[in-house]
Amino acid sequence: MLSSILAPSMMCVDYARFSGTLRTFEENGIGLLHVDVMDGVFVKNYTLGTDFCRNLRKMTSIPLDLHLMITEPEWKIAWFDVQPGEWVSVHAEATDHLQRALAAIRACGGKSLAALNPATPLSALDYVLDDIDGVLLMTVNPGFAGQKLIPATLRKIADCRKYLDERGYGHVRIEADGNVSFENAVKMRAAGADTFVAGSSSVFRGPDLAANIEELRRCAE
Ligand code: DX5
Ligand code: ZN
Repeated sequence: MLSSILAPSMMCVDYARFSGTLRTFEENGIGLLHVDVMDGVFVKNYTLGTDFCRNLRKMTSIPLDLHLMITEPEWKIAWFDVQPGEWVSVHAEATDHLQRALAAIRACGGKSLAALNPATPLSALDYVLDDIDGVLLMTVNPGFAGQKLIPATLRKIADCRKYLDERGYGHVRIEADGNVSFENAVKMRAAGADTFVAGSSSVFRGPDLAANIEELRRCAE
């Protein structure tokens, strides 16, 4: 089983405690910072963008995990100045050119992930398996923090792990995004997820971030 990685969701950070939060993440071995980019079209919300990413990189050495909930990402990857080793996910539903988008991420030295909404079948991955380092499975519909897990997505995580392993892609990671509570993290890990987006349901639930990280790590190990 791939080792577990926690990726706190930066849209859930309390801005009054922003730099202290980053220090806490660094001191507690956080592996990735999940940055939700929403364009008001692919999802009905606006969140973080290119300036936020640029400034965040100046404040921490933790690699970014960009989750692009934007249409036609293949033309916009260049705007984000992706750094080697950063993760970038693009939605299969947001483009007619998924392979082009994934290749554009790798061309910058990024780790490429295909993101799938809850209802999108795994067959969307059939012809891009050689182009991905991971799959981001939405466990809620994208657009907002604080939603409830869609139960069928637990089965989808298990199906996805099996699908990848059977085809010889055991190294491809599975990132679960949406309502990763302590309780749900246990179920997601058992199903085969290895990377966990931590938002209002876990790391940002209550003021003690370090204790929440420790608890989530325990649940996701
Ligand atoms: C959407 C986001 C949210 C959120 C996760 O892509 O990544 O899912 O911040 O946090 P929860 O669901 O726990 O509020
Ligand atoms: Zn996300």
